[in-house]
Amino acid sequence: MRNLVFLLLVACGGSEAPVETPVEVERAAEPAAPEASADAEGAALAAAKEGAKALGGTLKAKVIEGLAANGPAATLEMCSQEAQGLTAMVAGEHQIKVGRTSDKLRNPNNAGPEWAQAWFASVRDTPVAEVKPMTEVVEIDGKKVARFAAPIGIAEPCLLCHGSPGDDVKAKLSELYPEDKATGYELGQLRGAIWAEADVKSGS
Ligand code: HEC
Repeated sequence: MRNLVFLLLVACGGSEAPVETPVEVERAAEPAAPEASADAEGAALAAAKEGAKALGGTLKAKVIEGLAANGPAATLEMCSQEAQGLTAMVAGEHQIKVGRTSDKLRNPNNAGPEWAQAWFASVRDTPVAEVKPMTEVVEIDGKKVARFAAPIGIAEPCLLCHGSPGDDVKAKLSELYPEDKATGYELGQLRGAIWAEADVKSGS
C-alpha cells in the first residue's frame, strides 16, 4: 500500500509542499490580511492535492490487489461496484470534491466538472511525461476555490481492462458498461486526469 501511494506521488510530479505550514508567531501578530489569505489558499491547494493522491492510491491499491487475487474479469466487476463509493469516501474524508475524468469514459458518472474536462482536453495530445499537474485558485460567486488536476497515464496492468481486453473482460464490459469508450489504449498513453477541488476557508 505504502509503495503504491509513493508511486502515485511520483506520477503526480513530486514537488509536494507540506500540508501544514508552521505559523510564525511574529507574523501571526501582524494584521497581514494578504498573507493570511495566501496561507488559506495554500492550505486549500494542499488539501486538494492530498485528496487527489489519496483517491489515486486507494483505487490503484484495490485494482492491483484484485488482479493478483482474482484476475481481471472479477476485478473489473469489483471496480464497477466499489469505485464510485470509494471516490465518495475519499471526498468525505478529505472534505473536498474529487474524481477521475477522461475524454473516453467507461462510466459516464465520471465526467466530472467542466474545468477538469477542459484542462484534460488542453493536455490531451501532449506526451504523458510532459504533462505537468495544474493548480489554480478561482473565485466563484464570491467564494474562492482551489483546484488541482494531474494526468493519469496507462501502465502495464491497466491494459488488461483498457487495452485489448480478453474475452472474459470483454463480456463483463458489455454487461456492466454497455457504453464503454475506454479500451484500445496503449502503454504510456494518457488515459485521463484526476481532479480535486477544495474551498478556501475565509476569515481565518
Ligand atoms: C480490472 C479492470 C481495470 C483495470 C486493471 C484498470 N481499470 Fe480503470 N476502470 C475500470 C472500471 C471498471 C472503471 C469504471 C469505474 C466506475 O464505475 O467508476 C474504470 C475507470 C477508470 C477511469 C475513470 C474514467 C472512466 O473512464 O470512467 C480512469 C481514469 C481509469 N480507469 C484509469 C485506469 C488506469 C490508469 C489503470 C492502470 C493503473 C486502470 N484504470 C486499470 C477497470 C479497470
